[in-house]
Amino acid sequence: MKIAFVCTEEYDPDYVEAIKQLTQLPLMESEEADTVTHLLSLDASGLSLKSLDSKAGENHKLPTRVDFLDAALHYRKNSFGKHQGLAKAVGLNKHEPMQVLDATTGLGRDAFILASMGCQLTMLEQSPVIYSLLNDGLKRAETIEDGELLNIIRQMSLHHANAQDWFTEIKLGAKAKPDVIYLDPMFPPRSKNANVKKDIALLQEVLGFDEDSDSLIEAAKDCAKHRVVVKKPGSKADKGAMKPNFIVPGKTAHFEIYA
Ligand SMILES: C[S@@+](CC[C@H](N)C(=O)[O-])C[C@H]1O[C@@H](n2cnc3c(N)ncnc32)[C@H](O)[C@@H]1O
Repeated sequence: MKIAFVCTEEYDPDYVEAIKQLTQLPLMESEEADTVTHLLSLDASGLSLKSLDSKAGENHKLPTRVDFLDAALHYRKNSFGKHQGLAKAVGLNKHEPMQVLDATTGLGRDAFILASMGCQLTMLEQSPVIYSLLNDGLKRAETIEDGELLNIIRQMSLHHANAQDWFTEIKLGAKAKPDVIYLDPMFPPRSKNANVKKDIALLQEVLGFDEDSDSLIEAAKDCAKHRVVVKKPGSKADKGAMKPNFIVPGKTAHFEIYA
């Protein structure tokens, strides 16, 4: 896999340089173009990532960007049934206002839904590429004149950080304990034919899978005031070594809660 970076619009040079420095990606040069598998692109619509695999289906070649105005995200935000499980899992309304540490933020959709439910979100993302997409999505959202969106965005603070390091700092007393830690790592697929959505398939191609998610869950356990919530694929739990206190089932994913 080889990701390259391209900027096709007039942007603040400091912003472009910051993305280059953080991601350390090579620039898309025409002579190397056929070896590049994915493109991080800064254009008029913002920063996006896409697969250049000519064998991928048309849908999979569409760019993925963090868009907090996305219609599907707002549909999920506005229909309680779509996030009832998440609200139950974090224990919404038990402790208000709730501080949630989303330690594996990814494309920030769960974080956005939690913030829209009134939670204060600290978001960690270790991948420089995914962090850059998130940061760009937040920057774009801040420029949109939409009071409701701005109120949600202002509850979300993003850090380029590794969750294990953050947990160590909590244990050392250098960082405050959140009420809830939310984890949604890249679990290996349950089956070879697992059907995943385009954006998640792209993350899997670029990031691979987190083989150490059990140790991440273990490390999180002493770091939250109230609970650790783990989102796992599949409607219900597999029998495994980890024994959650309870489970909130769902249609495509379930939540395991360690309290
Ligand atoms: C499945 S995605 C999360 C999707 C997210 N819940 C959403 O709604 O978009 C998992 C993300 O966790 C990040 N991640 C995995 N382990 C991490 C760690 N130890 N520290 C910080 N980020 C991590 C990965 O880079 C990836 O972007």
